Order: sequence, then structure tokens, then C-alpha cells
Amino acid sequence: MADSLILSSQASKKEKYEQLLPQISALIEGEVSTVANMANIAAALRQAFGFFWVGFYLVEGNELVLGPFQGEIACTRIGFGKGVCGISWEKNETIIVPDVDEFPGHIACSSASKSEIVIPITVDGKPVAVLDVDSDKLADFTLDDKLGLERLAQMISPIFK
Ligand code: SME
Repeated sequence: MADSLILSSQASKKEKYEQLLPQISALIEGEVSTVANMANIAAALRQAFGFFWVGFYLVEGNELVLGPFQGEIACTRIGFGKGVCGISWEKNETIIVPDVDEFPGHIACSSASKSEIVIPITVDGKPVAVLDVDSDKLADFTLDDKLGLERLAQMISPIFK
């Protein structure tokens, strides 16, 4: 049985990532199921930050296919270079969208989603998945999220091998 996450209620976002990452590392340590690990990572992120939607899209051929997530139902397939996720995959870089209505090509899975960050996950430099996080607040993602989630993406990359 896993323990609950321990996070200081007064912590800044940066401090929360610092507290959360070692706990996620412990959570996935020794578990070989990629699906189980993705599911717990999505849950941990949502629990820690209260994000509107957190989930994985996995590279399958020329598409991204929906993986484990926390939040409302979402679109299941996204083409290469399509939407924020497909562009992050194509460019192999993190994309922060402060206002999804201002982002050409954004794929709206829920009208409640206002801002978004997508982080590619690579194995040996090759994108294998993206981590997509949506907020119901405008401009909710900062450099602290980018740095925290990129560190997370690097840390969890071995589960995709
Ligand atoms: N907004 C994403 C699609 C996925 S949902 O947000 C869960 C995009 O434009 O790629």
C-alpha cells in the first residue's frame, strides 16, 4: 500500500516540485509496469498541484495515443505536428501556452481548459511520449513548472524503455 504524498501547504511551486520529485521516484521504484507508473505519476501531479488535467500521450507510429490520465475524458489520437501535444513531439521541446484560445491549432478537449504545458519524454534522445498538463486558469504555467516537469520527464524516462 502506497503512502500519501507529503507536501508543505505553504510551499511555493518550486519547493513543491522539489518535495514531489523524490516521492514520485520512490513511488515508481521497483515497479516494472509502464502503465501503472504513468497512472500514479498523473495522479501524484494532480494531487500535488490541483491541475485540471494531467496525462500522457504515447508515440505510436505517426500519432500520439492517449495513455493514463487524471481528469475529464480527452481526445484519444493526435497527429504528428497537430495541437500543442503534436507540436511538442515534432519539435522535441516543452511548449507553454498561456491562453489556449490564442494558440493556433490548439485541440480543445474541454472548454474549461485555459492554459497548458506539454513536455516531451525521450529515450536516448528520441521522443516516446509527451506529458500534457492543463489548467482551468489562464497563464498558470511558469518557468518553475517547465523546470520541474522537465526534471520529472528526465527522471521517469527509464519507465518507457
Ligand atoms: N490540448 C491538447 C490536446 C490534449 S487535451 O488538452 C487533454 C493539444 O492541443 O494538443
